[in-house]
Amino acid sequence: MKNVLLAGATGYLGKYVASELVRQNYNTRVIVRNEEKFRKSGIEVDDVITAEVTSKDSMKTAFEGIDVVISTVGITKQKDNVTYMDVDYQANKNLLELAIEKGVKKFIYVSVLKGQNLRHTAICDAKEKFVDELKNSGIDFCVIRPSGFFSDMTEFYNMAKKGRIYLFGDGQFKSNPIHGEDIAAVCVNAINRSKDEIEVGGPEILTQEEIAKIAFDAIRQKSKITFIPDCMRKLALSTGKYLMPKKSYGPFEFFMNVMAIDMVGKPFGKHNLYAYFKSLESK
Ligand SMILES: NC(=O)c1ccc[n+]([C@@H]2O[C@H](COP(=O)([O-])OP(=O)(O)OC[C@H]3O[C@@H](n4cnc5c(N)ncnc54)[C@H](OP(=O)(O)O)[C@@H]3O)[C@@H](O)[C@H]2O)c1
Repeated sequence: MKNVLLAGATGYLGKYVASELVRQNYNTRVIVRNEEKFRKSGIEVDDVITAEVTSKDSMKTAFEGIDVVISTVGITKQKDNVTYMDVDYQANKNLLELAIEKGVKKFIYVSVLKGQNLRHTAICDAKEKFVDELKNSGIDFCVIRPSGFFSDMTEFYNMAKKGRIYLFGDGQFKSNPIHGEDIAAVCVNAINRSKDEIEVGGPEILTQEEIAKIAFDAIRQKSKITFIPDCMRKLALSTGKYLMPKKSYGPFEFFMNVMAIDMVGKPFGKHNLYAYFKSLESK
């Protein structure tokens, strides 16, 4: 299985997956909506196809000769006029249907750790609906379920830079965030695994309070953390639903839910959070 089509290659994770595919000598084709954005990454893939994953017709030629599809497509911070159902569900379903039509052997999809328990959030509802389709489709598959990415931990760093980090409750929920390079290795290695679901996180299991302290250490500042009673999180969730624009409420709803649970996958990888926060200093 040498020929891989990657959708989502302009994203945080997608760029690392593209690099890892090239590093492991896969014939790599990417499907992007903005070619220039991908070219800026400098990753030398074999083929770049410009198409809209939300439009099945625009992608038809992308699947010729492909053995494996990897999709990291999903709405995170994008503010297009589309919903999670349009992208996280339907666009991935478009990819899956074309993959099956064109005889692709395997489909690897990136969902979220504990996505099955978070179906009451709009993002996980759409993601898990796609996971259901994938599992029932008959194609060989792998579902990757990562904890938070380092890119999302940047918010802790930004708060530290502003002088104070705000946490809900006592800040003792645990997670093991993972660097894009580490999770990319999991995605590419999944090419050789069958009908599998992989719950994975980074090598360090940390409480939210510990993450906050690491952010302050990285900028060499004394920790200043404010613990907000959890009832305020619940209040923000219930009022935000009616007061916030849908586009902003989606990521907010997901974030507010995962702040109140442990998000720990099987520890994997080599990157630590302190080094990541340090790397942000030079940006
Ligand atoms: N970030 C996390 O902490 C985290 C944790 C667990 C799981 N995940 C999941 O992992 C996946 C990758 O995350 P990421 O952080 O790499 O996200 P990202 O940086 O936002 O990348 C998402 C990719 O999806 C594409 N996309 C989004 N909306 C689109 C649309 N309407 N039409 C076409 N393409 C669209 C983006 O294209 P453009 O570049 O053109 O916008 C980009 O290539 C997502 O499904 C996410 O839900 C993320």
